[in-house]
Amino acid sequence: MNAGRPLLAANWKMNPIDPGDAADLVRAVAAKAAEHPEVDVAIFPPFPWLLGVHELLENTQIGLGGQDCYWEESGAYTGAVSAAMLAQMCGWVIVGHSERRLHFGETDDTVAKKTAAALAAGLTVIVCVGETLLEHENHETEAVIERQVRGGLAECSADDARRLVLAYEPVWAIGTGRSAEPEHAYKTMRLIRNTVGGLIGQGAARLIRVLYGGSTNAGNVESYVELPLCDGCLVGGASLKADEFGRMIEVTAEVYSKTAARS
Ligand code: PGA
Repeated sequence: MNAGRPLLAANWKMNPIDPGDAADLVRAVAAKAAEHPEVDVAIFPPFPWLLGVHELLENTQIGLGGQDCYWEESGAYTGAVSAAMLAQMCGWVIVGHSERRLHFGETDDTVAKKTAAALAAGLTVIVCVGETLLEHENHETEAVIERQVRGGLAECSADDARRLVLAYEPVWAIGTGRSAEPEHAYKTMRLIRNTVGGLIGQGAARLIRVLYGGSTNAGNVESYVELPLCDGCLVGGASLKADEFGRMIEVTAEVYSKTAARS
């Protein structure tokens, strides 16, 4: 783990259907997070639940974010939510998630526009990158990751580094129960940092946070957060289970306390 603060980001995706369940989950996560203030936690609910979750998170340290945004500030864009709107109640946004790339036509160009708009609106941005199973099997991971990082960060500068988070999420590991080998995750996260260094400078590469995502849970989170260069995890399915996610916060805090003691 990096010497910086660890981050667990809860990507709820299109869940839960019931706002009461969303509220219960937030209360449970907030209680656990309060016991471990050394771990940064951010929650990314579906848009309709943002306001309610925002109210429940008042007086907590937990971050709130949207799962996507549009780059125009306002106007005739039916169905879209702008980064500027999110910034009214959120500090965070996810862009370039592989499910957006797969189901909604997200490209490196649109990721670049969304990232720039989100940064301009004052948000901290989690930019997701990751290779598909076919690309993985064809040994194209490095080329794909470099292309996605360069493309997605095309409009960024070194000044943005403190509000930039890169999430390495191999597509074949998302929601499949088949998490990446920590060694593979480590090599790819190192490549991400090096690519960012080449793009916007070595100082920036040290300041950004790099996460792993893909079938993380309470049983395997330690093997990622203990990696050098890893700042935490982007968590999907396990973030919907209060006990499981709570345990992930505890484990991350334990690993962080050991790392901090060493550095
Ligand atoms: P998962 O999803 O933890 O359910 O694999 C991670 C993500 O898509 O961010």
